[in-house]
Amino acid sequence: IDRTNSMGINLANDDDLRTLAAAIDAETAQWQAAPLVPGATTAAAWTDVTDPADRRRVVGRWQAADAATVERALANAVAAQPAWNATPAASRAAILEHAADVMERQMPKFIAMCTREAGKTIVDGVAEVREAVDFLRYYAGEARRQFGAQALPGPTGESNVLQLEGRGVFVCISPWNFPLAIFCGQVAAALAAGNSVIAKPAEQTNLVAHAAVALLHETGIPAAVLQLVPGDGASVGAALTSDPRVAGVAFTGSTATARAINRALAARDASIGVLIAETGGQNALIADSSSLPEQVVKDAIGSAFTSAGQRCSAARVLFVQDDIADKVVDMLAGAMAELVVGDPGQLSTDVGPVIDADALRLLEDHAGEMAGCRLIAQAMLPDAAAHGTFFAPRAWEIDSIGRLERENFGPALHVVRWKASELDQVVDAINATGFGLTLGIHSRIDETVERIVARAKVGNIYVNRNQIGAVVGVQPFGGQGLSGTGPKAGGPHYLPRFATEKTVTINT
Ligand code: NAD
Ligand code: ALA
Repeated sequence: IDRTNSMGINLANDDDLRTLAAAIDAETAQWQAAPLVPGATTAAAWTDVTDPADRRRVVGRWQAADAATVERALANAVAAQPAWNATPAASRAAILEHAADVMERQMPKFIAMCTREAGKTIVDGVAEVREAVDFLRYYAGEARRQFGAQALPGPTGESNVLQLEGRGVFVCISPWNFPLAIFCGQVAAALAAGNSVIAKPAEQTNLVAHAAVALLHETGIPAAVLQLVPGDGASVGAALTSDPRVAGVAFTGSTATARAINRALAARDASIGVLIAETGGQNALIADSSSLPEQVVKDAIGSAFTSAGQRCSAARVLFVQDDIADKVVDMLAGAMAELVVGDPGQLSTDVGPVIDADALRLLEDHAGEMAGCRLIAQAMLPDAAAHGTFFAPRAWEIDSIGRLERENFGPALHVVRWKASELDQVVDAINATGFGLTLGIHSRIDETVERIVARAKVGNIYVNRNQIGAVVGVQPFGGQGLSGTGPKAGGPHYLPRFATEKTVTINT
């Protein structure tokens, strides 16, 4: 492997921290996001972007693409793709690697954007930028490795070559919870494979997406090969995914939206579009009586409440064996009392805000639905939280995972007790949710771990550690069933899905 993952920031180094703090607190931070579509002028009104931690603070503004801009973007993308596809994969890769280097150097700016637009803590912001950089480098490396013509054995007098090419125009639709990492991952893979790309970021996080596209343009991606088309899902997203000129869609977001896109692609009178969808989860952590309660609690807290629980990988249900359940529940309540909820721009903050008022309302609704269940703990909110969209992290004891009707996308954990004889039923109940994204296992018994791994229909399984933060190229990430189509992001099979295969046979 000739690739190394990115460098972080040493949070123990005062100089680095001061640079970061200055970037995050910059009074002048008035970022902008408008469509980046050559030849289009959008007259749409501007919408203010406010800080999720303090809605009084305007941090920028964005402008949606109108119908003419969407049309122009599609026409540009169709026209630009052949030349980009004909550019050697190694040259495409070199641009992405250059972009990765520049982004790594600009880490403070991107962390500041993730913090002020998306409410990411500093630690999450560092991880976010690193993951984006890693995706750029990883798919560049995979393009070099996989896109050369591959000679195949055949009869004498004949040459057979298999080669990969871009499919055409790819639409990349991303969520707000990884506004830089997933955005860059989708875009980098589609570009590395030789597609032209129209990127439609989540409505909540256009600013960071705009900065990423601007950087990719500055570092060598032609403007018509990568275009930014901000807008809401129902209008701009749907217009893109229903257009017959689109060869494929890379989507990360909710299962319901993935279904809508699948229907839109299928309804077109065009070639069959490819959908790569990475969606939600109802993720569990199973702890048996051989596990260490201290470690279970540490990893449950980290998996459930990091990023304010706004990770598709986050633990939602902790299944704890009855022998150790009282101890684990007591320790969980104690640890949750120590969680610092507040301004994500402060290094001391563990849990920041949720993304917006809609997300907060869904979580408050869920708390209402849990009214009949035992509340194990509720973390404290500071007074200043009243100005932002904060949900105090909570844990409830429930009798079954089936009681949860939907993915509760925030800092909400549920605890279910189980008996030794019920291990298979626990795994079956998790499988019965239909989701299959992450699963945590805490056990010191190899047979138990193997039994769960064999039975679980889950994409990413983590044993005796937390279950978030998959590392590009190390833990290829993606789910099964309602959690996604695959292939796994940050894994070797991802890039070929963005490509079409051509076999050339020559009678020599
Ligand atoms: P969402 O589905 O509401 O939105 C995601 C994107 O889809 C946004 O850009 C949105 O504008 C767009 N969109 C919405 N309707 C559309 C339509 N009809 N046509 C085209 N595009 C449309 O999801 P969200 O709330 O932004 O993100 C949170 C969800 O993402 C959670 O369910 C989470 O689990 C999931 N997620 C999954 C992964 C993964 O890797 N599996 C990673 C991160 C987030
Ligand atoms: N890849 C992200 C994680 O593993 C979603 O947490």
